Order: sequence, then C-alpha cells, then structure tokens
Amino acid sequence: MNLKDLYINFFVSKGHKQIPSSPVVPENDPSVLFNTAGMQPLIPYLMGATHPYGTRLTDYQKCIRTNDLDNIGDTYHHTFFEMLGNWSLGDYFKKESLTWSFEFLTEVLNIPKERLAVTIFAGNDSIPFDSEAHELWLSLGIPEARIARTVEDNFWIAGETGPCGPDSEIFYWRSNDPIPEKFDTEDVRWVEIWNNVFMQYEKHEDGSITELPKKNVDTGMGVERTTAILEGVNDNYLSSIWTPVIDLIKEISNLDYTGNEKSMRIIADHLRTAVFILADPAGIKPSNTDQGYILRRLIRRAIRHAKKLNIDINSDWEVRIASKIMDLYESYYSELKDNREIVLEGLKNEKVKFNRTLEKGLREFEKVSNQDIDGVTAFHLFDTYGFPIELTEELAKEKGLKVDIEGYQAKFKEHQELSRTASAGKFKGGLAGNGEIETKYHTATHLLNAALKQVVGPDVHQKGSNITEERMRFDFSCDHKLSDEEKNAAEALVNQWISEELDVVRLEMPKEDAIKSGAECMFIEKYPDIVSVYVIGDGISKELCGGPHVANTRELGHFKIVKEEASSAGVRRIKAILD
Ligand code: ALA
Repeated sequence: MNLKDLYINFFVSKGHKQIPSSPVVPENDPSVLFNTAGMQPLIPYLMGATHPYGTRLTDYQKCIRTNDLDNIGDTYHHTFFEMLGNWSLGDYFKKESLTWSFEFLTEVLNIPKERLAVTIFAGNDSIPFDSEAHELWLSLGIPEARIARTVEDNFWIAGETGPCGPDSEIFYWRSNDPIPEKFDTEDVRWVEIWNNVFMQYEKHEDGSITELPKKNVDTGMGVERTTAILEGVNDNYLSSIWTPVIDLIKEISNLDYTGNEKSMRIIADHLRTAVFILADPAGIKPSNTDQGYILRRLIRRAIRHAKKLNIDINSDWEVRIASKIMDLYESYYSELKDNREIVLEGLKNEKVKFNRTLEKGLREFEKVSNQDIDGVTAFHLFDTYGFPIELTEELAKEKGLKVDIEGYQAKFKEHQELSRTASAGKFKGGLAGNGEIETKYHTATHLLNAALKQVVGPDVHQKGSNITEERMRFDFSCDHKLSDEEKNAAEALVNQWISEELDVVRLEMPKEDAIKSGAECMFIEKYPDIVSVYVIGDGISKELCGGPHVANTRELGHFKIVKEEASSAGVRRIKAILD
C-alpha cells in the first residue's frame, strides 16, 4: 500500500472522516491564487463554521506553491505537491495529535524512533513555551536532546492573517552517517516530514492575536518527501512517485538522468503542475494574468528545458508525458479522467503558440544578450516572442547577465494603459476578472442566489462561486437534486428581475449592521469592519460583497441554467450563462 492509503486508513481508524481533495484553485478564497496547504480549504471551519463531515477530518490535498520557481530543479522542491492532513475541529488536541503522529510513523511506517527528532514552540512575549508538547514528546520516548525549541519556526500561519498557532515539527535523519545524539536544526541531514499545528489563535490585520472560539489541530505531511525517505532515496525524483515520468523523459530525449537532472526535473515538475491546473474545475487556460500566467510560465519553461535536452518540440513529447502523469494519478483524482482531453488540448495549444516564436525569440535573445538586458528589450521579448519575463531572466542568468525588471514593468504598464481593457486592472475584492462580462455574471450570481432562496427555501446559502468569461458557476447548500420545475422557476425568476430593470445599489455600513439587516454573506470573519452591501431592487437581494456589479439588471440580457449537478455532500452546483 502506498503512503496516501496507509495514512488515510490510519486516521479513519482513529475516527476521522476522509474528505475529498479540494480543487487547486480555491473556490471561496480570493486571497491566494492556489491552495498552498491542506488547511486552506478548511479555513472557514478552523474559524468555527460547522463542517458537514464532523470534527475529525483527514485527506490528501493538492497544493501548488510557485513562489520559489527558481528552486525547481533541485532534489526536493516541487511546484505541485500533495499534503496529507488530519484535523481536529474543536475535538482532540495535543495529546492525541502527537501520540497518533508518533504511532503512525513508528508502527505503521516502521520508522525507528532513533531516527526522529522534534521541534516545539519556545515561547515569546505573548504566547508561552509549549510545555504540554514537551511533556508529551518525552513520554512518547523522544529524548530531551532530540527536542529543539524555536520561536519563528514553531509558529504557523498560512499568510499574513488568519488562523494560526504554535506547532511541533517532526524531523527524520535522512543520511547513512551516524545519528548525532543532539538534534541540531541547522543540520540539513535532518529533514522535516510532518507538522502538527495547534491552531488556537487568529491573527488580524492590525497584528493583534485573539483566541479562536474552538481549539483545533491542523497537520501536514508532504507526500513526495516522505515517500522518498521511506524508499531510502536522497533525491525525491528518484522515488517511485517520479521514476515512471523521469524514465519516459529519458526515453524521449535519449539521454541519461545523470548530467541532465535539472532540465528533466523541471520538465517533470512543471508538466505535472500544468496537468493539475488545466484539469481543475476552475477551467484555467494559459493567459497573461493570475493563475493563467503561472500556467503559461510553467508550460513555456518546460518547453524551453525540453529544447535544452534536444527533444523534438514538434513531436508529441508533452502529450506522452502528461498522459503518463494522468495515468499515475487518475485513481486518486477523478478530474484527470474527466478532463483528460482538455488537459492535452491545453498543453498542445500553448505549445503551438509558443513554438511559433520560440526559435526566433531565442535567436533574438542571442543577438541582444551581449550586454545586460534593458527594459525595452525584455518587453520586446515578451510582446513579440511570448517570453514571460521570468524566462528572459532565466536565460540571462545562464549567461551571467542582469535584466532591468523595473524598466520592463514600466514598459508593460505603459502598454497596458494603451489597451483599455487590459488597463482595467485587477479588482481588489478578488474576482477572477472584472471585465464587462464577468461583472454581469457577478450580478447574475446574486440574483440566482436570491431566486433559489425563494424557489427552494431559505436554507439555500452560497457555498462557492466561480466566474469565467464563458459562464458562471454557483455552489449552494441544498439536500436534493433540483427538479425541472425548481430549475425552471429559478431561471424564470432571474429573467423576470432582469426584465424589471432593477437598480443595483452599493451601500457602505458597519459589518454588524449589515448582518442585522439580514444581508447574505459567506464568511463573516473575512470581511473588514466596514463592508459594502449590494442591494438589488427593493431588497430582492442583499449581499455583502466587494463587487463590481452592473448598475441595472437590464444589462444582463438573458439568463439560462445549463447544468445542475452534485458538488459535494449537501452541496449542489449550477452552471449558467448569459446570452
Ligand atoms: N498547515 C501546516 C503546514 O502547512 C500543517 O505545515
């Protein structure tokens, strides 16, 4: 059995419910482009909302971190990775959490406890030393010399604000060298494999920290790293997770791994991430903004490294590698099965686009790279040859040259201001886009929410929303499949409101007043003290929302539900279009 199955089975045996992996593009959290940790989709529940699956949860979660793309190519960084997690939502706390972690490692994975060491929170001005974790580790048999205390590294928070708390990290001695008695956190032969976060606080924008209503446990174990450790390899890409992909790249390029590690790792890593982004229900396509830009960079960088390995770019190399990746993962992630063609088409299209200019672009780069690259040149490489700025930087770095990034950005901005649509900029409230059509869909989302409440019942609440230029998607709480009558009635009601030419008005008020007035909102904790409330017509819809919205419902045209389906337990999903 592999690590994922062993882990889930173990925590299920300890009374946990397995929850499905959330999409890589967060559905309700505009603060990040991608899920970066297993806890991210659980934030509302860590803040006190009731989870439909109960108080003990476990899962494997797809995560994407693209902040240090430059590190990809070493032995252990990945842009996509899977994180195993178990959570207590106001249920058990430190004792069970640490005891089970220890039991899983030593009795299920059979890791000798001599190879383990831990860190615990040392305490600071506002939060005391974690003596409870200290006592627990001692009682489990971890000697004092293997328990290190730190401040910064033992306080966990996903970003700047949100749920957080002291944590305890578990390290494994990944070396054949004799194991030193004393645990030195600076010694890289000790690698972190698991983090148990005792989430009992919330950090606010002003830096203050308050107690959460319930104490939670949040844990995270990296699948790639732990698998490599269990298989005794010092390079993650030599574990069974990656070898089928690396072997295929070796076959396609007709080269050995040794000597070509960096490019092979980049191709494997970036294509795996691209596969998962393309397969995501959010429907991301390569573009020049947000998730689409990351996707574009990943694919183009993979292509560049394939070229470095002399792979014939025009062959179906990327389709073969992506297919292999999907074969390996599809039993865990059904979207890879459902969206296989979308993924392959997405990769092929982006390749064709980049390929048209890649050769010329590389020749152009050769011409201009007898000196540092100025902003105008970098912009020219982007605009004319489709080189993401990061690619130009990487090429320059290989030649020991600098790129004037600020100059590039100035040029980019100038260009944006010239093109009206592009200059609209990004909407602060975190909508996917704020083009005209997305704005319409956003207002239509409020109308649909209100219509469902009238047709299905007051218990309907928004659970998620996603808008692209092509359609809107709306997830809502509802315990049954909508009948045709319900669907038709909701659709008709939205169209009636559109034809009534209702004004959409934005009000500002204190959050408390908004709630008192009965305004709909998903996660009250996420809003600032003064909120904007959008009111449609004579109170037909009233929702806390950052906007933007159309001024009058007449702008929406005609509303049509195209699909109604299950999303998760107790949650239905509607896809609808404006035509
Ligand atoms: N959320 C914790 C982490 O990412 C478990 O390390």
